[in-house]
Amino acid sequence: MTNRTFAIIKPDAVKNGDTGKIYDRILSAGFNVLSAKLIKLTLAQAEGFYAVHAERPFFGELTEFMSSGKCMVLALEKEDAVAEWRKTIGATNPVDADEGTIRKDFATSVGENAVHGSDSDENAAIEISYFFTGSELVQNR
Ligand code: CMP
Repeated sequence: MTNRTFAIIKPDAVKNGDTGKIYDRILSAGFNVLSAKLIKLTLAQAEGFYAVHAERPFFGELTEFMSSGKCMVLALEKEDAVAEWRKTIGATNPVDADEGTIRKDFATSVGENAVHGSDSDENAAIEISYFFTGSELVQNR
């Protein structure tokens, strides 16, 4: 079944000049980009997006980092999109990421880990709607 996931190219990767290289990995992995935009999150937006982690000790660090510079948010489509994107990006901590994954090649730490990926179809739908309106999601290639 073709489905959707949500991705962020995080501020570390954008600052390092890796946006284009990571976008290319997305296309090479066979994702249809329904929409993409370069934005700078406010702290409040980052706190809302990561609200599920509000009680974690790293919440302040995470939301400050995510609002520290520009990032690219993307709505992606592919068969089994959530699992496929998670396979493409690799483990959350780059030291655990497999060879050839985006985090292995571009991330520097568990906090500054280059990219985000949704963990379920339900959260993908919530996360996509956090940043995109329905009319911004373009089906045809
Ligand atoms: P992400 O996929 O965006 O979802 C939650 C984020 O929390 C995760 O990527 C990491 O960047 C971040 N995170 C998880 N564990 C830690 C940690 N121990 N310290 C800092 N950030 C973390």
